[in-house]
Amino acid sequence: MKAIVIHEFGDASRLSSEERPLPEPQAGQVRVKVAAIGLNFADIYQRRGWYPSQPPFTPGTEFAGTVDKLGPGVTSLKVGDRVGTASGGAAYAEYALAPVDQTAKLLDHVSFEQAAALLEQGLTAHYLAVSTFPLQAGHTALVHAAAGGVGQLLVQIAKRRGARVLATVSTEAKAQVARECGADEVILYSQQDFEAEVKRLTGGQRVDVVYDSVGKDTFEKSLNCLRPRGMMVLYGQASGRVEPQDPQILNRKGALYLTRPTLGYYVMTRDEFLGRANDLFQWVADGSLKLRIDKTFPLAQAAAAQTYMEERRTLGKVLIVP
Ligand SMILES: NC(=O)c1ccc[n+]([C@@H]2O[C@H](COP(=O)([O-])OP(=O)(O)OC[C@H]3O[C@@H](n4cnc5c(N)ncnc54)[C@H](OP(=O)(O)O)[C@@H]3O)[C@@H](O)[C@H]2O)c1
Repeated sequence: MKAIVIHEFGDASRLSSEERPLPEPQAGQVRVKVAAIGLNFADIYQRRGWYPSQPPFTPGTEFAGTVDKLGPGVTSLKVGDRVGTASGGAAYAEYALAPVDQTAKLLDHVSFEQAAALLEQGLTAHYLAVSTFPLQAGHTALVHAAAGGVGQLLVQIAKRRGARVLATVSTEAKAQVARECGADEVILYSQQDFEAEVKRLTGGQRVDVVYDSVGKDTFEKSLNCLRPRGMMVLYGQASGRVEPQDPQILNRKGALYLTRPTLGYYVMTRDEFLGRANDLFQWVADGSLKLRIDKTFPLAQAAAAQTYMEERRTLGKVLIVP
């Protein structure tokens, strides 16, 4: 099969398209003939060596396709089932392995592209808004990078839970996307001081929660946007890693809470995974959650796909179709 392989950490030129043997499913796994691969910023962190992995490896975790072979003892799925996962391994390939506990069977109305676009970013937006800081009417949230993959879904889920959403984006085109997702206010943080804007837009009250996936460039000012006892949810680092902090900073800025969540700890059981995934598929089916697939690349152009994301050009989900 064709697969993308990384032999050394580095820039997108490190992604090479190669012939590899078919992976063999172990107990608890199925092999999937991949129809669509979802790109995520974590794939880029992994390629840069920011997340633990040992070259050579094939990147990616999210894909949808058809079950092609069962691992020993697997009975909950069968060959021919249409499935999707955000927790697979070596996803940038024509065939990949999916863990049965973290794999959803797709209903007929859900396309492979929709599943590969929804699972990682949708599950993330779901746990952030529903569990990490359970939003409700009366809350105000600040969502950074609101026109991104997670950002668009997070704004929509925050709105359906009744919160007021202040959104940051870098361009006017992205501002339009954030507004279409329901953001109440959009701040162009490339041109405006977002801390001053948040204080102005909240009459000095500031927000209950900041969802920050940008990291280095936004962390400190984001803390200043929080009301006393507000929660800083640092869930990504698209601009770079946040420097180590003295916990006293939380005291000084208003007895704040800080969490650094990650999806794996919010889909720890099959029931938790399926509960969140079923909500997402239901909302897409009834039209209340809009999925924007921005661009699709062939597998051989995986490097171009990652570059497109790194250059902040995305207005939604990026897919690779093998
Ligand atoms: N913790 C978790 O469980 C979890 C799970 C999934 C994703 N994430 C995180 O969520 C974030 C969004 O992921 P995504 O896959 O949906 O990507 P994305 O939001 O579609 O793309 C990242 C966005 O970050 C913004 N950004 C700000 N500074 C940047 C910089 N220096 N370089 C690149 N981008 C920059 C850009 O939006 P603007 O141009 O509008 O600034 C860019 O479009 C990432 O940080 C990712 O690691 C976390």
